[in-house]
Amino acid sequence: MLKTIILLGAPGAGKGTNAKRITKEFNIPHISTGDMFREALKNETELGKLAKSYMDKGLLVPDEVTISLVKERLAKDDCKDGFLLDGFPRTLHQAEELEKIGETINRPINYVIDINVPESVLKDRICGRRVCKNCGAPYHVTNLKPKVEGVCDLCGGELIQRKDDNEEALKTRLDEYHRQTEPLIEFYSKKGIIHEVNGTKDLDELMSDIKEILK
Ligand code: AP5
Ligand code: MG
Ligand code: ZN
Repeated sequence: MLKTIILLGAPGAGKGTNAKRITKEFNIPHISTGDMFREALKNETELGKLAKSYMDKGLLVPDEVTISLVKERLAKDDCKDGFLLDGFPRTLHQAEELEKIGETINRPINYVIDINVPESVLKDRICGRRVCKNCGAPYHVTNLKPKVEGVCDLCGGELIQRKDDNEEALKTRLDEYHRQTEPLIEFYSKKGIIHEVNGTKDLDELMSDIKEILK
């Protein structure tokens, strides 16, 4: 079946980390709305400035902005043979709109993978996370160290801490997740396409569970 995949999960569940591995394995584009907003911010576009005002506080960027961004991205040629969405949809409205986009481009979502991680683990992951300033690859100060401290293994970029990776913004991000995103679990369960995975496992083990789902 065509690999059209959504990764669901709380902040810090490991969406970005696993997305990198899955998209490499299946050679499909990794579409992260969070990364797209951060890229826009780096380029100082209007979209970037708008997104920043929400992101820094841990709030969701308004639906209409996010939906049109994804709609445009999914229409690109490289999504023809599948794609992976990381961090989208995050509201029921986004999920409903994604259904319509899927119909228009004739590529419905075939797999939703929900990465489960208890809340006690999320805080440590978020506060210890470092990301590559250049390519966005995630690392962790104890769980996932780069080969050379402060330097990205993949591209040599500098590792920095995200602005929303602090306790206060995390609290808001978790609230937003429970209130707006968690209902998607039921939405996709009804469609029978959701699969739960244990996100506290070691990354290689987790990847083999995911491959089993996607085979
Ligand atoms: P986004 O960038 O999507 O952030 P998030 O959902 O809060 O999720 P994170 O990126 O923080 O976590 P992750 O699940 O990717 O975890 P990671 O793999 O890095 O969104 C940011 C903001 O943008 C939002 O708050 C919102 O404002 C806006 N936005 C984005 N999309 C939007 C949308 N659709 N609608 C509206 N607004 C939107 O892993 C975390 C850490 O844990 C890393 O250090 C990693 O090394 C470590 N780790 C991961 N897995 C493991 C493991 N198995 N074992 C040990 N360590 C692990
Ligand atoms: Mg991420
Ligand atoms: Zn990098």
